[in-house]
Formats: sequence, structure tokens, C-alpha cells
Amino acid sequence: MKVKCKSFRLMLFWLAVLTLIVFKVESRKRLKIGLHKNPESIEENIHNELKTLAIKQKLNVSDTKTVTSSKKKTKEAGTRVSKLGNLYNTEYYATLKFGKPPQVLKVLIDTGSANLWVLSSKCPDSVKSCANHTKYDSSASTTYKAINTSFSIAYGSDSKAGFIALSGFQSQDTVNIAGYTIKNQIFAEITDAPDAAFLKSDFVGILGLGFSSIAIDGITPPFYNLVAQNLIKKAVFSIYLNRNGSNAINGGELILGGTDSSLYSGCLTYVPVSTPGYWQFTMESAKLGDFEFCEDCETILDVGTSLIVVPEQNLTIINEMLGVLNPNASTTVFLVNCSRISEFPDIVFTIARKDFRMKPTEYVLRYGDTCVSGFTGLKGNSLLILGEIFLGAYYTVYDIVHKLIGIAPAVH
Ligand SMILES: *[C@@H]1O[C@H](CO)[C@@H](O)[C@H](O)[C@H]1NC(C)=O
Ligand SMILES: *[C@@H]1O[C@H](CO)[C@@H](O)[C@H](O)[C@H]1NC(C)=O
Ligand SMILES: *[C@@H]1O[C@H](CO)[C@@H](O)[C@H](O)[C@H]1NC(C)=O
Ligand SMILES: *[C@@H]1O[C@H](CO)[C@@H](O)[C@H](O)[C@H]1NC(C)=O
Ligand SMILES: *[C@@H]1O[C@H](CO)[C@@H](O)[C@H](O)[C@H]1NC(C)=O
Ligand SMILES: *[C@@H]1O[C@H](CO)[C@@H](O)[C@H](O)[C@H]1NC(C)=O
Ligand SMILES: *[C@@H]1O[C@H](CO)[C@@H](O)[C@H](O)[C@H]1NC(C)=O
Repeated sequence: MKVKCKSFRLMLFWLAVLTLIVFKVESRKRLKIGLHKNPESIEENIHNELKTLAIKQKLNVSDTKTVTSSKKKTKEAGTRVSKLGNLYNTEYYATLKFGKPPQVLKVLIDTGSANLWVLSSKCPDSVKSCANHTKYDSSASTTYKAINTSFSIAYGSDSKAGFIALSGFQSQDTVNIAGYTIKNQIFAEITDAPDAAFLKSDFVGILGLGFSSIAIDGITPPFYNLVAQNLIKKAVFSIYLNRNGSNAINGGELILGGTDSSLYSGCLTYVPVSTPGYWQFTMESAKLGDFEFCEDCETILDVGTSLIVVPEQNLTIINEMLGVLNPNASTTVFLVNCSRISEFPDIVFTIARKDFRMKPTEYVLRYGDTCVSGFTGLKGNSLLILGEIFLGAYYTVYDIVHKLIGIAPAVH
């Protein structure tokens, strides 16, 4: 067969911007809310070549990198690294191995939730989100144990559709992350998802890294099992995100069991978790130029959310300041004029009396001639959500036992 070489152009492109957090609604009932947004204006201009290229690159995401303390002294002893894949700087995923023999599945990492789930081989192809995706097949695993209890998760969307529900059942198997084999991990197998949910995503599940208090059905999250099964000594993980969207295979690192001082500069600033659940803390101030839109506001760090989510009233002003090109768009992805980025002000977050500054080149996502504002809103949300835009610029440390968050400038 003759192989045709296509020239590759980066113009407009397919973009999936996610917001994945568990919303605490009325009393103790919790809903898993997420957004999967495909801005129509951008979506219309999909360049299949780009998508194909990205998929090829992603096939090469190596699953793990074992770190021995002797190899690099910057890494704390007893840590291991799960290398992350990166989809256009808007989705970061880890590679997990389920069962025996291992089934390799890519899962989005999400500090805004605390459950693990994957698409199930029992999900029929008539469910479009399941078709053409890798799925977990319990019948092929000798370590699988049936639980069967039903499981459901409700996703929200910015579209008129509102909520998107995912459902399936619970299962138990070994789950390997970064070379650590967690035994008896309970997770959900998803057998039903709306068409729009994951059609265009490459991940086939989500790994929640939030506190167990927000885990649906009280299922012990994988990170807690890593600690309980003595696989890691310190109940600490840290996250380093690469912001080179063209380099899908070097997306960053999820460091289990501690930190790596070669990935940040200066000292870590620690701030206590205000309400364990999300990785939530009280931010002293957030200022875009002279516009201060937060004073002692509740904030969460959320890998799993692509952008920075601000309260809706604040967004209107921010959009005006950045002169967004589509202020009235039905989508919550706002485009800005690429030629004007240098005129935009810095944003400064004050946390534990330290200033964490970001330049417009850091908070605007640039894809060729398309520039996407790093700020968005979420209906009914009053939290400030610092997603991957922030987490690309700042290395973050998550300490479950001491309920502390550490932040320092990431080295790139
Ligand atoms: C994956 O990596 C290998 C070795 O680096 C390379 O030979 C191969 O072409 C890559 N595959 C793709 C699909 O890029
Ligand atoms: C799955 O892939 C097949 C073969 O490439 C294609 O015909 C089909 O439309 C795809 N299904 C979905 C839901 O994308
Ligand atoms: C789970 O469901 C399967 C298929 O319906 C059944 O064969 C099995 O006995 C069930 N197991 C448990 C533990 O309920
Ligand atoms: C981003 O990654 C691509 C592909 O690996 C590489 O060619 C390019 O130099 C990188 N860009 C930067 C700014 O590091
Ligand atoms: C920003 O949003 C917060 C929370 O909704 C609100 O209290 C505040 O008044 C807003 N500030 C401005 C200047 O719009
Ligand atoms: C957006 O809507 C507002 C209020 O309806 C209107 O005044 C404004 O002209 C619209 N802007 C654009 C760019 O369409
Ligand atoms: C973007 O800004 C440049 C320079 O200010 C201007 O010439 C151009 O018309 C603007 N483009 C759009 C689409 O507003």
C-alpha cells in the first residue's frame, strides 16, 4: 500500500476543555459535575491530521518512570513517578494497569474528585462514547472480583443539556500505578454514557485524587490504598505539568510519595486545607491588573479542570479587560486576539502572604492563530478553581495527613 504523507498544519483545532469537580449539593448528597466542552466554532474546523498526529504521539506515552533515590537526589527517597500524557494542555492523563495480565488504560487525573472509574467492556458499542475506546475487561483478569453494586455519576455541561449521567457498577481488581500494585481496589466500570461525553477524548476513565470525604459511595480512593498497603510511606503526592501541547508524551509527572525539588524553584509555600474534600484553601487575594476579584475567597486546586474558573460576575469584567472576541458565546471558552496578548495585565494570586504571578503568555492558551482566554465560568459555582493553567506555572504538593498544600514556581 502506498503511504501518503500529509503536510501538517496547525491552524484551528479540536479542543476539549474540561471542568471536573464534585459539587457538594444539598446536605450530604454529592454529585459529580463535569463539563466537556467542544466550542462549536472551533470544533467545525477540526484538522484531522492534528488529531491523528496527537493520537500517534500518545500511543508512546510510557507508563511509568521508577525513581530510585540514588539516581536523582532531588527526588525524595521512596517516591515514584507516573509520567503524564498531555492533550493540547487541556487534558493530562496517567497510564494505569488493571488486573492480571495487565490491561493498560489511560485515565485523566483529577484532584477535584475522589473516585476511580474506567469504561467497561460490558459497555455496548451502541453507546458511542464506548465505541472505539480501550475498555476494561474483567473476564480477562485473573485477579478480578465481582462486586456488582451499581454506580452512577452525574456530569454537568455548559450546554443546554445540563447534566450528563454516567452509570455502571463497581468492581474490584489490582490497579498498578507507577509500578506500585494496589490490591483489591474498588472502582467503577462504566456501561452507559451519553454520546457526547467521551467521544473525542482519549482517556477512558478518571483517577480522582481528592480527599476520601468526597468519594462517591465511600469507596476508598486509590491514593489512600497506596498508603494503607504500605506502598508509599508518606501520604503526599505532587504534580508537575508540562505546558508544551505539542509534546504529548512529556505531559508532566504525578509524583507519588513526596516531591522532586528539581521541578520547582525557591521554596514551597504551604497553606492549610480549609475544607478537606477538594484541595481547598482560602486565597487572600486575586488580582488581574488592578481588578481585585477575590478577597479571602475559597479556592481549589484542580488538575482535571483545564482553565481558571472564576465566579460569573467577575468573569464579565475579566472578559471586558481582555477584549474577548466572543463575549456572548454560548460556550464558556472565550477567544482573545493573539496580537494583543502583550497588552494584557499579569494576574497575581496572594496565598499565605506570598504573591504567585502569571503572565498573559501563561494564562492564554495559544494554538497557532487561535488564542483562548485562561478564564472561564461555571454556572452556580462560587469557588475560584485553579486548573491546569495555574498548575502548569506552579508545582503543587498535596499532603493528605497534614492537610496541607505546597506551591512553588515550576521549572520549565
Ligand atoms: C514510538 O516510539 C518509538 C521509539 O522511540 C518509535 O520508533 C516509534 O516510531 C514511535 N511510534 C509512534 C507512533 O510515534
Ligand atoms: C468506530 O470506528 C469505526 C471504524 O473506524 C467507524 O466506522 C465507526 O464510525 C466508529 N464509531 C464511532 C462511534 O466513532
Ligand atoms: C455479579 O453479576 C454476575 C453477572 O450477573 C453474576 O454472575 C455474579 O454472581 C454476581 N456476583 C456478585 C458477587 O454478586
Ligand atoms: C515542544 O515539543 C515539541 C515536540 O517534542 C518540540 O519540537 C518543541 O521544541 C517543544 N517546544 C518547546 C518550547 O519546548
Ligand atoms: C466577584 O465575585 C464575587 C463572588 O461572586 C462577588 O462577591 C464580587 O462582588 C465580585 N466582584 C466584582 C468586582 O464583580
Ligand atoms: C453581547 O451582548 C450584549 C448585551 O446583550 C450586547 O450589548 C453586546 O453588543 C453583545 N456583544 C457582541 C460582541 O455581540
Ligand atoms: C487584533 O488586534 C490587532 C492589533 O491591535 C488588530 O489589528 C486586529 O484587527 C485585531 N483582530 C481582531 C479579530 O479583532
